[in-house]
Amino acid sequence: YTLSTEEMENRVRAIKERLGDQLFIPGHHYQKEEVVQFSDSTGDSLQLAQVAAQNKKAKYIVFCGVHFMAETADILTDEEQIVILPDMRAGCSMADMADHHQTDRAWKILQEKFGDTILPLTYVNSTAAIKAFVGRNNGSTVTSSNAKKVVEWAFTQKERILFLPDQHLGRNTAFDLGVPLDQMAIWNPITDSLEYEGDEKDIKVILWKGHCSVHENFTVKNIENVRKNHTDMQIIVHPECSREVVAASDDNGSTKYIIDQIEAAPPGSKWAIGTEMNLVQRIIKNHPDKEIISLNPYMCPCLTMNRIDLPHLLWSLENIEKGTIDNIIKVEKSIAIDAIKALDKMLLLA
Ligand code: 13P
Ligand code: SF4
Repeated sequence: YTLSTEEMENRVRAIKERLGDQLFIPGHHYQKEEVVQFSDSTGDSLQLAQVAAQNKKAKYIVFCGVHFMAETADILTDEEQIVILPDMRAGCSMADMADHHQTDRAWKILQEKFGDTILPLTYVNSTAAIKAFVGRNNGSTVTSSNAKKVVEWAFTQKERILFLPDQHLGRNTAFDLGVPLDQMAIWNPITDSLEYEGDEKDIKVILWKGHCSVHENFTVKNIENVRKNHTDMQIIVHPECSREVVAASDDNGSTKYIIDQIEAAPPGSKWAIGTEMNLVQRIIKNHPDKEIISLNPYMCPCLTMNRIDLPHLLWSLENIEKGTIDNIIKVEKSIAIDAIKALDKMLLLA
């Protein structure tokens, strides 16, 4: 677009008005301000899955988030509702760390080792095919805001869990529920093998060797620096951070949890936040009465989330009006049928 920001914003506003209820724009907390200002609903992964499932009016859902979120929205909405991702390059490096060929191989080997004692769980930050693998094997999806509840339930079903694809959320959650670190193994999908030093029969949690490339940038060194330079600052991080970082922080939780904690904090309180840059900047802007910094001074953007910007949003909306809709996210029926089982289980538990 050669248009100015103001012209693009005016066009988006006008299209939103013309399309009315036919259009719904969910926006994840990590989206840029230029996009979030137009979202009809902002939220964390769980909230966005729920609003998508509840919205029966909108024909077009223009999803401002990343690919796996748009897939989830497509799975949970009705057949005639169309989900659009404004930029197809908006993926998630963590979701890309597990593909269904790898899980098929892993499952075969793990079943040979442990028999029918494992329940698979997957973070919603995963492809629809991985959710389908989990659904086919009676497991559930989880998000960072309900992981404890779902993992607790999983242990009422089976002796062990396989947690995909984020080893950190899996480890942090299981640890909080009392599973010792020495009962957690790592599944390496590149070598198709278990990384574990003890007797394999003691394993309770098998963590897929995946991680978030944004949250790995928060380190214990960052925490030490904050503790040294700001003695009365509280440190809150997302559970996609490593175990060491979560353990050294004061608190951890989903994007919604972080927002709620800071909202409830008294004026004058001081916070260092370990999560994606756009959200940290928004929290800083919304709380001028508090002293808030990013835990990592270089800030940490999610580059793929940032690919959704004002020009891509406008382009998607103009295409809807022209009838030349592009970037439709449509999950194959055979995959959606199993993926929905895993999502429904989570929505019921949550
Ligand atoms: P939540 O919104 O569930 O906290 O997840 C953060 C995230 O990384 C989404 O990609
Ligand atoms: Fe994926 Fe991490 Fe970006 Fe979330 S922040 S979308 S987990 S890469």
